[in-house]
Amino acid sequence: MPDLGGLAAGAHLARNFHAGLPGYAPTPLVGLPTLARRLGLGAVFVKDESRRFGLEAFKGLGSAWAVARLLGERLGMAPDALDFAGLRASRPQVGELTFVTATDGNHGRGLAWAARLLGHRARVFMPAGASPARVAAIRAQGAECTVTELAYDDAVRHAAAYARETGGVLVQDTAWEGYEKIPAWIMEGYGTLALEAAEQLAGLGGVGPTHVFVQAGVGSFAAAMVACLGAALTTRGMPRPRFVSVEPHAADCVFRSLAAGDGRPRTCPGSLETLMAGLSCGEVSTLAWPVLSAGLHAACACPDELARLGMRLLARPCGEDPALVSGESGAVGAGLLHWLMRPEENPETPGDAARARKALGLGPGARVLIISTEGATYPAVWEAVTGLSAAAAPPHHA
Ligand SMILES: Cc1ncc(COP(=O)(O)O)c(C=O)c1O
Repeated sequence: MPDLGGLAAGAHLARNFHAGLPGYAPTPLVGLPTLARRLGLGAVFVKDESRRFGLEAFKGLGSAWAVARLLGERLGMAPDALDFAGLRASRPQVGELTFVTATDGNHGRGLAWAARLLGHRARVFMPAGASPARVAAIRAQGAECTVTELAYDDAVRHAAAYARETGGVLVQDTAWEGYEKIPAWIMEGYGTLALEAAEQLAGLGGVGPTHVFVQAGVGSFAAAMVACLGAALTTRGMPRPRFVSVEPHAADCVFRSLAAGDGRPRTCPGSLETLMAGLSCGEVSTLAWPVLSAGLHAACACPDELARLGMRLLARPCGEDPALVSGESGAVGAGLLHWLMRPEENPETPGDAARARKALGLGPGARVLIISTEGATYPAVWEAVTGLSAAAAPPHHA
């Protein structure tokens, strides 16, 4: 069993570091009371990561903390002494480093940003079919970015080999045997989101969510939420919620691993093609899997249509609910929730939805937290799905 306490403690250090970064602000946590009523739920909350550091996704939290820890190690600085100004000032001592990674988009953009901020370089590899908008966003942070012919998991192996051959430093957001230290720091970095959410929920009356839907690609994010959000809520006197992972059908490695029921992870073969680019991963992180195996209440695999439904639901809310800009991988939890709670609107699968709803314990007493992990990172898709203009998207709710 992984050291959950260590992960949660690391999240506090990460948050202190993040708080000193330019542009840091806790992202909003909003309630959607009209949607909750419509779905027959007690409450729906959304933690909105679309404006995190101006990067449109939560991922920069992980890469910034991992880069800080790596630099701190070279400088002999203790983790609790790491701060932005100090790391910038000691840049001449460290020399110029090249951080290397593979990405579906958001992690690479976050790493490129963190490298630039701290005075270093980034080299980013993307899987086949990567969207030009995501490539451009990474290059805009000053990184060199190449789209490969490979599926995601092979692009990760390619980046690892490149780093080995060129003396670069691999900063990958997934772990495998022998490569766990840096992915653990990345997971700690995601913990900042969990600490903010727990504080915000405490401020909303402190009843806390009964369920948290967490998207899974390689599972690092979901595991970080299981470990850090679970701990942060119970520390503040709220009960531990049920964590439910959400993945695309086409890349459902966590679902397959949990369904196998023997505690051993499974891979998802094939091209992993899905609209949900950020979740298009076929192999679970070795660090994330034990946390997910022990801590998930359930795993769900969804068709792309539920991501589209979620994007529309959040972009075009009902009643007084605020509008949210949520991309494919960010919105699938909202689409899944709608599928579960409004089976009459899914005439092909009402029985499945009813069974799943019951197994998850969703009903009028449920208070569901969804994490919209990205904004319109592929604006053309967001516009096509929502029928709205990304440029004219709501500036933001309060
Ligand atoms: C927007 C978004 N949500 C969720 C995830 C899932 O994170 P993980 O790969 O750690 O499971 C990603 C991963 O890139 C992402 O980009």
